[in-house]
Amino acid sequence: MPVKISLIAAVGENGVIGRDNDLPWRIRSEFKYFKATTMGRPLVLGRKCYESLGNKPLPGRANIIVTRNKDYAVEGAHVVHSVEDALRLGAQIAEKDGVDEIFIGGGADIYRLTLPVADRLYLTEVHLKPEGDVRFPPFDRAQWEETKNEFHKAQEGEDADYTIKVLARKAG
Ligand SMILES: NC(=O)c1ccc[n+]([C@@H]2O[C@H](COP(=O)([O-])OP(=O)(O)OC[C@H]3O[C@@H](n4cnc5c(N)ncnc54)[C@H](OP(=O)(O)O)[C@@H]3O)[C@@H](O)[C@H]2O)c1
Repeated sequence: MPVKISLIAAVGENGVIGRDNDLPWRIRSEFKYFKATTMGRPLVLGRKCYESLGNKPLPGRANIIVTRNKDYAVEGAHVVHSVEDALRLGAQIAEKDGVDEIFIGGGADIYRLTLPVADRLYLTEVHLKPEGDVRFPPFDRAQWEETKNEFHKAQEGEDADYTIKVLARKAG
């Protein structure tokens, strides 16, 4: 069973995904969507992104952290030193667990390095144009087909409306 590589990101209308090593918005229901979508699948995270998510492994899925620091170790998570190793390990774990997809949860460096081999993009468009210091890398939309487009109104206490999109790479 070939393992698909999926990037998952919440992106402002201006491309911003982060500010000061945190998200530039608070949208509880979108974060729940992220957790539910990645549940049971290997999840690859850059070291900064991992630490920004509370510095402890997200439960119910193999967390694969990418860092250049050979001394970095996290109990309950896998630590690797290249994106290639992350993808290789993710595929091995997915096959062992009988799932057909691994997720790339960012941040920007990790998205940029994995975009060329991605099969699907789970992009939540957050309807804000926040200030930020990290952006989703540019990509050619013409190479992707939208397979999901679902608008969500902000719930009480949430910073913005958002649209969940899933894009699949066109064949050929
Ligand atoms: N909106 C979203 O969906 C979303 C998703 C993810 C993250 N974010 C935001 O993005 C920001 C964090 O992302 P970021 O782009 O700053 O950092 P990041 O990609 O999460 O992590 C960068 C770190 O990954 C390691 N790394 C990067 N490339 C590597 C390579 N080729 N080989 C080995 N290790 C490598 C390095 O770790 P070492 O320094 O340890 O060597 C590097 O400092 C935060 O603001 C976060 O909230 C947003």
